[in-house]
Amino acid sequence: MLSRLRTATLAALSALITVLALAAGVPQAQAAGSLPCDLYAAAGTPCVAAHSLARALYSSYNGSLYQVQRASDGATRNIGLLSAGGYADAAAQDSFCTGTTCIITKIYDQSSRHNDLTIEGAGGAGAADVGAPADALPVTVGGHQVYGLEISAGMGYRDNSTSGVAVGGQAEGMYMVTSGTHVNNRCCFDYGNAETNNQDTGNGHMDAINFGTECWFSPCYGGGPWVQADLENGLFQSDAGYSKNSSNTGTGAMPFVTALLKNNGQDHFALKYGNAQSGGLTTTYSGGEPTAGGYSPMHQEGAIVLGTGGDNSNGSIGSFFEGVMTSGIPTDAADNAVQANIVSVGYGGATGSTGSLTPGSEISLRATTACCTTDYIRHQNNNAVISPVTSGSSALDKGDATWIVRRGLADSSCVSFESRNYPGDFLRHSNFQLYRQPMDGTALFRGDATFCPTTGKSGTGTSFASYNYPTRFLRHYDLNVYIASNGGSNAFDSATSWADDVSWAVSQPWAP
Ligand code: AHR
Ligand code: AHR
Repeated sequence: MLSRLRTATLAALSALITVLALAAGVPQAQAAGSLPCDLYAAAGTPCVAAHSLARALYSSYNGSLYQVQRASDGATRNIGLLSAGGYADAAAQDSFCTGTTCIITKIYDQSSRHNDLTIEGAGGAGAADVGAPADALPVTVGGHQVYGLEISAGMGYRDNSTSGVAVGGQAEGMYMVTSGTHVNNRCCFDYGNAETNNQDTGNGHMDAINFGTECWFSPCYGGGPWVQADLENGLFQSDAGYSKNSSNTGTGAMPFVTALLKNNGQDHFALKYGNAQSGGLTTTYSGGEPTAGGYSPMHQEGAIVLGTGGDNSNGSIGSFFEGVMTSGIPTDAADNAVQANIVSVGYGGATGSTGSLTPGSEISLRATTACCTTDYIRHQNNNAVISPVTSGSSALDKGDATWIVRRGLADSSCVSFESRNYPGDFLRHSNFQLYRQPMDGTALFRGDATFCPTTGKSGTGTSFASYNYPTRFLRHYDLNVYIASNGGSNAFDSATSWADDVSWAVSQPWAP
């Protein structure tokens, strides 16, 4: 009786907590069977590969997501989940990598196929790749801080000996969650099916999603980045290669993008994209295979590539949060359900804490000098500047003026500032001026992007000492932002109003 009462009370309590959490917009733990690979399995097209650094892609998965290796002693550590079907245990990575740096050495396949990805070896068009820095792309998902995979040129992952992945004209589907803010026009930021020998073995020997601003077949419309199909010897937007759809101008600088490709291996493929933070999927192409020879039927070889082209062309950059490959062509209904699930976990959403210098908190940094008390540090054309932001400012201006406080990239007792709308990009100095740039894992970047807070030099607010130039502080001068000393040879080191210019009000974020 007592235990039944207790059960009833607990059930009522947990229902109340769910209602309260929903009201507060906190992403919920997933109900059984609702994650991408559960959805694809239920639709008869099971995942044969499921990779993510951020979260489980099966509700029952409770294994490792990825492996990191630290520089100090070469030791490796698997990073798993906080709970079955949940989110990455990024704190385990942070503690393992404290005081040193880590790279990602393996990305585990959550499917029973064990198609794990490791750092890619040399290929027909590129020397052996290196591992990506493990802390370059901190983002929020499901209310938790996790890390994505940030690929720079010369980085890539691969598995040339897989199980269950489509070969020789078999049907398959795939998607990845990526970012429109970290792209280039080099070959080839891909996720999907590739050659088993790292060589270009001919038309139709690849079937991978490509995302970037490389226009292989003109005309491409707009500035991209586009979701394309890398079917080998071409990044295809349609059967003729070039886009037949002038309204397909790409996703623009959307922070989180769902990119999807499916191919029946014989006579049909389709491309879709969506905003991974809201809404549904848009189909940009659904039709025949490329009309050039070799693509109909396809000749997939079944290797899996992430971050490079099939022949290890590795000039491209990109971001990867999660991706799967299926056996068979998923239904549109299953794709829509997967997109709804991706949206529901809230990639990049508010961290829940604002206005403080605690890692994870979102802030804006307001100038306190009398001239400029409505000006905030924002990025504009990759530079850091101060300019006025008000409640009436555009969403873009508010996003540009919002920063996520991160553990200092060079010293975890200091802080770094990640751009709110450019995941993986940080405020860093170079030649003493401040810019927004993608974190590249180097010691120089880490030092340049680390600032140590101290009481405001004017007696108000907070000043931020540069980690690698500790006598220099974050300062605005002529509307640009520098690290400046109190007097010195550079104009921006001027002692006039230095104390005010280096004192910042850590404020509520304009774009929480
Ligand atoms: O199809 C585009 C690229 O061409 C492939 O990824 C690569 O293998 C080849 O260089
Ligand atoms: O900003 C000062 C120095 O200039 C930085 O440490 C370096 O990136 C650049 O050479």
